[in-house]
This record gives sequence, C-alpha cells and structure tokens, in this order.
Amino acid sequence: MKRVKIHDKEFELFISHEKIQSVVEQMAEKMNAELVGKNPLFLCILNGSFMFAAELFKRINFVESEISFVKLASYVGDQTTGTVKELIGLNEDIEGRTVVVLEDIVDTGITIDNIQQQLKRMNPKEVLVATMLLKPDALKKDVDLKYVGIEIPNDFIVGCGLDYDGHGRNLIDIYSIVKE
Ligand code: IMP
Ligand code: MG
Repeated sequence: MKRVKIHDKEFELFISHEKIQSVVEQMAEKMNAELVGKNPLFLCILNGSFMFAAELFKRINFVESEISFVKLASYVGDQTTGTVKELIGLNEDIEGRTVVVLEDIVDTGITIDNIQQQLKRMNPKEVLVATMLLKPDALKKDVDLKYVGIEIPNDFIVGCGLDYDGHGRNLIDIYSIVKE
C-alpha cells in the first residue's frame, strides 16, 4: 500500500485520483441537468476546496455560470461573541441568485452551517452545498447537503486540497491516517 509521511504522521492510500474524478464527474452531470438556466455562482471555500472546485467547474457544460473564491477568517470577537469566523472575499452581489458552495469536506458541519448562515443574510435565491467528501459519523449540525461526492469514515485524511498542518494538499490521491 502506497504510504506518505507528513510531519510526524503516516498516511496510506485511501481514494485514488481516478475514483475522485469519476465521482466529481457524476456531481457535475447532476448539476448540468439541475442548474442550467439558473446562472449559478459557485463559491469555492479556500484553501482546501481549490482542487475540487477546479475539477468540478471545468465539467460544468454551460457558460452562464460564475465562480468566486472566498475564505473564512478567524478573528477574536468581543467577549460575548468569542472567536468569529467571517466569510471574506465575496465581491459579488448574491441577492436573488443561486449560490453553490463548494467544500472539500464536511466533518462536524459547523463550518458549512456558519457559511450558509452568513450567505443567507445576503438574501440569495437559494444556497446549495456541494461537498467532495462527507464524514457522516462526525456530523454535529443538521445541514442540508445537496451534492455529496463520497462518504468516508471518521478518520483524518489528506490530499486533493486537504492538508495536515499545511502539507499534503498537492497529493493527487487521498490518503488516510495510519492508526498505530
Ligand atoms: P467542520 O466544520 O468540522 O465540518 O470541518 C470542516 C473543515 O475542517 C474542512 O473544510 C477542512 O478544512 C477541515 N477538515 C475536516 N476534516 C478534515 C480531514 O480529515 N483532513 C483535513 N482537513 C479536514
Ligand atoms: Mg476547508
């Protein structure tokens, strides 16, 4: 089994690039059928989702669609709010639009729930979520996920945009942590 060491941890091959591509292809086919004519705005959540977003967006087969890139910035709020994660980098007016959030992975669902709430305040027509990966056993929030690529066990993974402490994003396949 192919292995890779990142920092202090060992990872082993878990999902091949070919498998990821075929799953993304199926997600794109569904979107091509369901979103054509809606002029959707795809929103790639940086950093982790850039590879998934590229693989997916090049398979969207109608030109009336846009993509933009946003990030969650943590800053310490006042005493009542604690740490706040604010969505930054969104320059488009999303009022009345179909927004498709592109996430690399939904784990507890806290991040995507937060993003959805912030976007909904901007009065879009609808906010749809597409995630390449989902850890169903880790979910803590009741989130509505419209497009889900692959459901995986609750183990730490890297590759295809996902990192372990900054490294591993460039791995073409997805690797799962080796449990000692
Ligand atoms: P959530 O808020 O718990 O759903 O976490 C979502 C975010 O945590 C993702 O966008 C990833 O950046 C990160 N994340 C969750 N699981 C993993 C993993 O297994 N490997 C790398 N990053 C992960
Ligand atoms: Mg992420």
